[in-house]
Amino acid sequence: MSTVTIEKILKAIDSFSPFCYAYEWDNCGLIIGSRDREVRKIAVSLDLGIKSVEKAVQEGCNCIVTHHPPVFHPIKKIDFSSYTGKLIEKAIQFGINVIAAHTNWDTSPNGGNKFLASQLGLVELEPISLPRPNLPSPSWDGVIGKLKFPVNTEALAEEIKARGSFSWVKYYGDCPNISTVAVCEGAGGDLWQEALRAGASAFVTAELKHHQIQEALDAGLSLIELSHAQMEDLTMQALAEKIKAYVGVDVVLVTGAFKEEKIIYKR
Ligand SMILES: [Fe+2]
Repeated sequence: MSTVTIEKILKAIDSFSPFCYAYEWDNCGLIIGSRDREVRKIAVSLDLGIKSVEKAVQEGCNCIVTHHPPVFHPIKKIDFSSYTGKLIEKAIQFGINVIAAHTNWDTSPNGGNKFLASQLGLVELEPISLPRPNLPSPSWDGVIGKLKFPVNTEALAEEIKARGSFSWVKYYGDCPNISTVAVCEGAGGDLWQEALRAGASAFVTAELKHHQIQEALDAGLSLIELSHAQMEDLTMQALAEKIKAYVGVDVVLVTGAFKEEKIIYKR
């Protein structure tokens, strides 16, 4: 078998989830490491945390593909006492190359948003596309789909919680009859108007802001709010499987650090 390099992994990701779909503010691709390094085994993780680096090392990996870019804002110095500095130090110390597949993964036509919508039980999926020029096909900034059976807001929240094995879900609104639902991975609250325009009666995303909730509810849109990490963790399995299928190297998931996230309500 031919050698698998970091360059080969970048090309593989670019073929199933092209980097041209990343938002211009984003920082995707090779973040730490060298394109010509040979890859033994790949770890996939939502984030580059101290624990995920340690787990990757234990698993014998020398490459981590993260969803969130560990270096996002430009940095002028690498201070090992800062969180980012510590992560860079650890990665270099253990010979770990780091690649980020962030909004290219979310919004490419067969990426995270589409996968998430189908995992949550939606069918007849169509993209919700923001106007973004020069893309080979419309981006999947969000997804709109149908439920097999109409439900009310509370039942939809319960169904989604069960389907994703999420430890919590919040819902807003009391629509009695929802059959069309929009989904956006991560903090997608800004997309609520596009979701409504596309015909959704409910919108599923994370990290909703107070004013987004207020305006969406007044416009008649029900909202289902999930944990950002748990929602995106769900799509890391699909990312890992795609990488494995495209490059033929062992891939292991080292994510799931937020599974214990709980919200407890007391009366
Ligand atoms: Fe995210």
